[in-house]
Amino acid sequence: MSRITLSRYLIEQTRSHNTPADLRFLIEVVARACKAISHAVSKGALDDVLGSLGTENVQGEVQKKLDVLSNEILLEANEWGGHLAGMASEEMDKAYQIPGRYPKGAYLLVFDPLDGSSNIDVNVSVGTIFSVLRCPDRNGATGDLGEEAFLQPGTEQVAAGYAIYGPQTMLLLTLGNGVKGFTLDRELGGFVLTHDDIKVPETTQEFAVNMSNQRHWEAPMQRYVSELLAGESGPLEKNYNMRWIASMVADVHRILTRGGMFMYPRDNRDPSMPGKLRLMYEANPMAFIIEQAGGAATNGSQRILEIQPTSLHQRVPVFLGSKEEVERVTAYHQE
Ligand code: AHG
Ligand code: MN
Ligand code: MN
Repeated sequence: MSRITLSRYLIEQTRSHNTPADLRFLIEVVARACKAISHAVSKGALDDVLGSLGTENVQGEVQKKLDVLSNEILLEANEWGGHLAGMASEEMDKAYQIPGRYPKGAYLLVFDPLDGSSNIDVNVSVGTIFSVLRCPDRNGATGDLGEEAFLQPGTEQVAAGYAIYGPQTMLLLTLGNGVKGFTLDRELGGFVLTHDDIKVPETTQEFAVNMSNQRHWEAPMQRYVSELLAGESGPLEKNYNMRWIASMVADVHRILTRGGMFMYPRDNRDPSMPGKLRLMYEANPMAFIIEQAGGAATNGSQRILEIQPTSLHQRVPVFLGSKEEVERVTAYHQE
């Protein structure tokens, strides 16, 4: 049987769905960068890439060596090709400007270079999350690209995906017509289509949440989780199982594979932080993927993809996964 490589899939997308050549190139470059990150992650202590750098990012989180290295790999891979107008990342305070010596392109790339940093040093799956937007018309402006260009609702994404660095390295991708899964073939050095047309089952008996935050949650979330825990004898009349990997990529990947419900709700510890996850490079790309796979994603009251962002590093509560459960918890928040 002939194997469908990522390149072949993208070229066939151009034929069937008019995927522009520069978007195709962008995805190939991101995939190449993810391959390099996968390689670095797999070396671990052999290449002295574990541990922290002692610096903090704009969100006040201690940066791991691999956070910074992955960020650099993505910037270097993407800055010269002429397909981007700018980039933004969890690890950079402001928008990244394409150096003047390179041509600029039509797209914006936003990423979480290394998701699940707390799992790096314990050899548990981590990943890279990315979102692609069109750069709005700058009316001939030639100065630095400001943050405003990026502040578009998730419905404007033209592509989104993640790479997961687990027992296998995989790339999950949506161009707005379904979700495809590619597995890295290390001997061939490329991604091969292995999971065609991924769908999230509508119902589930599995949920993912960091239960240690329970005492800080709001009433609708308390109610929902107490119902999940009540099992068969409670109002939901079934027993649920729980998983929490603490790498969003890995938790979402499990949900894309066998269904489930992922929650990182708002809590009352710090009113300036409505949830932990970031809208632009965690919630939006994952919401796009989950919806394209037939699931749902809300912040409790609104579809994630319809939120108008107000800043690059803004945080949002996240409920995503199997439709029936996302609708239930959203209804509890709306009551
Ligand atoms: P990052 O490593 O990019 O900062 O993201 C970590 C996120 C996400 O991947 C995960 O779902 C969540 O943080 C885990 O949070 P807790 O440690 O609070 O469980
Ligand atoms: Mn992350
Ligand atoms: Mn990260």
